[in-house]
Order: sequence, then structure tokens, then C-alpha cells
Amino acid sequence: MRQLFPVNRDNIDVEELYRGGRPPRPKRPYVAVNMVTSIDGATAVEGVTAKLGSPGDKRIFFLLRSLADVILVGAQTVRAEGYGPPRLDRTAVAARLARGQSSLPAIAVVSRSLNFDWSSSLFTDPATRPVILTPASAQAEELRRAQGRADVVIVGDTSVDLAQGLEALSARGARLVLCEGGPTLNGELASAGVVDELCLTVAPTVVGGGGAARLMGARPLKRMLDAALLHMLEEDGFLFLRYGLAQGTEDER
Ligand SMILES: NC(=O)c1ccc[n+]([C@@H]2O[C@H](COP(=O)([O-])OP(=O)(O)OC[C@H]3O[C@@H](n4cnc5c(N)ncnc54)[C@H](OP(=O)(O)O)[C@@H]3O)[C@@H](O)[C@H]2O)c1
Repeated sequence: MRQLFPVNRDNIDVEELYRGGRPPRPKRPYVAVNMVTSIDGATAVEGVTAKLGSPGDKRIFFLLRSLADVILVGAQTVRAEGYGPPRLDRTAVAARLARGQSSLPAIAVVSRSLNFDWSSSLFTDPATRPVILTPASAQAEELRRAQGRADVVIVGDTSVDLAQGLEALSARGARLVLCEGGPTLNGELASAGVVDELCLTVAPTVVGGGGAARLMGARPLKRMLDAALLHMLEEDGFLFLRYGLAQGTEDER
């Protein structure tokens, strides 16, 4: 992997490049979104991301996971991508423990329907227990089932209030939340003004039309967000971009 911006460099320490530069937020965890798209902006091919990935993308995916306290994900991504419990290699686990983090990040799923395959490894792995953020309107029977399989946090009335959800994650000790999509959840976080960073892999492929959503979903944002390019890396024609997003004043968040 080589760096193209801010300067050309062949020998780069990718871990070092992604590790730093995340100032603590006063009221909530720092939120980084990690996504992959085709050149023409598709976020999925045939409903999943597998055909957009590369070894480099996978490396950065796991690197970001290894840094995060919580992996935040939308329910539809859990269902479409068949999410399981988080796994990291021994080196990453050792580095986390040395930094004072838990051995693995927790997975936190945002869902209104609580419609999951409760027998999947995400919910049955004995070593990890996911968090579910759901609104008060969740159906009682589904809620009971969820509470048997996950730590359920109720935030918001008919929709999860994401700002409150982040505060709840902060109360559980999260300082860095990594959102892995999908586009609907990304858009809601961006609308709430709580996305600090976007890590974007651009795959050298053109997908064309179809049902794939754009990065931030279908709903317009209340206002455009300025982004500063922090770095651009390249490997095998894939581009790896890290942007810092401007959010306005802290009172707005
Ligand atoms: N390119 C990439 O890097 C990438 C990354 C992730 C996903 N994807 C792709 O994106 C697609 C899935 O994305 P998506 O946009 O359809 O869905 P999504 O964002 O993963 O999940 C949407 C769901 O999350 C829940 N949700 C989100 N915000 C909520 C709120 N404020 N309150 C309550 N519930 C809320 C709802 O769950 P319920 O339906 O349970 O109520 C909603 O239906 C898949 O095809 C996946 O492969 C691509």
C-alpha cells in the first residue's frame, strides 16, 4: 500500500496512519464511519459488499475494528451480511489490552423491528454479547426475546435517538465508535451531526444501476457537511481515503 496524499510515500505504516488523530468529544464517543463503494457510488452488489472488497480493504476494515470500542451497525446490514461476533487476531487483541481496552469491540445493532435470526452466532456466541439499541415502541414479545440474547438499550420513542444512543454507549465506556453502515444508519448519524470521520474505500469497478444505496442513504441531509481529506492510500487500484468531517459547534450535536 502506498500513500498518494498528503505526500507520495511508498513505505507507509498503515496502522500508524489510522491509529491517531481522533480528539475526544466532550459529550459522546468519537464516531468514524467505514464504507466501501464502487467508482460510481454503489455500496453493494447483489445486496452485499463482497464483490467490492480487496485484501487492502479487509486489512483496513480489521484495523479499524481493532481500534474501536464499539462497532455500530444497522439491522439490515446485520441481516444482509450475516454478521457474527467480532474476531481479531492475537496481535490486535494484545495491543487492545495494552491500551486498556477490552479484548474485543462490542457490536451494537440499531433496530426498530428486532427481527433477527436469534440462533445466529452473533447472538449465541458465549464469549461476546451484542448491544441492541431500539426505541420504546418495540413490541413486548420481540423485546423479551432480544433481552435474552443481547444487552438492550431503549433510546427514543418510535425511532432510536442516535445522539442518546451514543451517550448510552459512552456511559458503557466507549470512546471510539466505528459505524460499519449501512447507508440508512450512516445517513441518520450524519443528519444527527455525529459523524466525525469517514473512511472510504473506492473499488476500481463500475456497477451501474440497481438497488444499491449511496453512502449516506436516500434522505437529504439538513445541511451539507464539509470534509477534509486526511490521507489517500492506494493498493491494486483501490483507493483508501480518510476524511475528517466538520460538525459545527458542539451545541449543535
Ligand atoms: N458498502 C459498504 O461498505 C456497506 C456497509 C454496510 C452495509 N452495506 C450494504 O447496505 C445494505 C444495508 O444497508 P441499509 O441502508 O439497507 O440498512 P442499514 O442501515 O444497515 O439498517 C437499516 C435498519 O436499521 C435500523 N435503524 C436504522 N436507524 C434506525 C433508527 N433511528 N431507529 C430504529 N431503527 C433504525 C432499522 O432496523 P429494523 O429494520 O430492524 O427496524 C432499519 O431498517 C446491505 O445491502 C449491505 O450489504 C454496504
